Amino acid sequence: MLSSTMKAACSAAVAATATLVLGLSIFAAPAAAITDVDILNFALNLEYLEGSFYSYAVFGHGLESELLGGGPPVIGGQKGHLTGDVANYANEVAIDEINHVKFLRTALGDAAVPIPAIDIGPAFEAAANAALNTTLDPPFNPYANNLFFLHGAFIFEDVGVTAYQGAAPLIESRDYLSAAAGILAVEAYHASLVRTLLFKEAFTVVLPYGVMVKDIVQAISDLRGAVGGGKDQGIIRGVNSANIVPTDDNSITFARTPAEVLAIVTLNASKNQGGFFPMGLNGNIK
Ligand SMILES: *[C@@H]1O[C@H](CO)[C@@H](O)[C@H](O)[C@H]1NC(C)=O
Ligand SMILES: *[C@@H]1O[C@H](CO)[C@@H](O)[C@H](O)[C@H]1NC(C)=O
Repeated sequence: MLSSTMKAACSAAVAATATLVLGLSIFAAPAAAITDVDILNFALNLEYLEGSFYSYAVFGHGLESELLGGGPPVIGGQKGHLTGDVANYANEVAIDEINHVKFLRTALGDAAVPIPAIDIGPAFEAAANAALNTTLDPPFNPYANNLFFLHGAFIFEDVGVTAYQGAAPLIESRDYLSAAAGILAVEAYHASLVRTLLFKEAFTVVLPYGVMVKDIVQAISDLRGAVGGGKDQGIIRGVNSANIVPTDDNSITFARTPAEVLAIVTLNASKNQGGFFPMGLNGNIK
């Protein structure tokens, strides 16, 4: 008995040691392999996506050619039918996102990856269809009006917040970490703007689809959560209380790993090639 107990304890200890060693080596390998350049380029891919979407929605064209690094033009962009305050807010957000692209490209210098293939048309249709588990007719078009634009923006903004927070502990340079914190804050301002505007219309029935805003938002959130490690919330708590800021129990925003972010922006495509990035991202994190 004793001997077999000791044997068991001993093999458990060996197993624990093996796990520890394995755990450490698993931890050490990617940490050593991922550089700040890789992380900034990962962020740059996401900013290319956001910058292109808002640039089209507000100005009717994609990013200026000197910001593309020789990559292809995006597909599916249109000038948005935006009016009033939403047009005003969208203009500010567009300028911020375009400036993020400029900032990251400048910080990276020659190491900046070019813009990858980006889909900001059919990918929105696919995302909306996947979220609502149906084929919307007419297809969802985020450029059609203020409300649809806000839904399109909602798909991205919370992802940006969780992506920057998830990347923070991987960044070695304090200067880059500080810049990333500043960008995260801007994404969070944008996200709360979009969520607040959607909350004001939460119980509006979106025509011609016949679904309330809060339910479309919840469906998008559920889809992001399903492929992106949970970590997502819609805009309503309980029956009709506001949930403008998605957080954990400590009221800290969620952090997503690059893999979780990739699953969302590629709409869970195999090899992370699909959705908003039909050919995948450029750089080492893809
Ligand atoms: C999606 O819709 C199909 C039929 O239209 C149904 O069989 C399926 O259960 C639905 N999936 C979810 C997750 O609701
Ligand atoms: C995402 O893709 C994985 C791997 O192909 C699959 O197992 C999983 O069910 C997918 N998740 C959703 C929500 O579609």
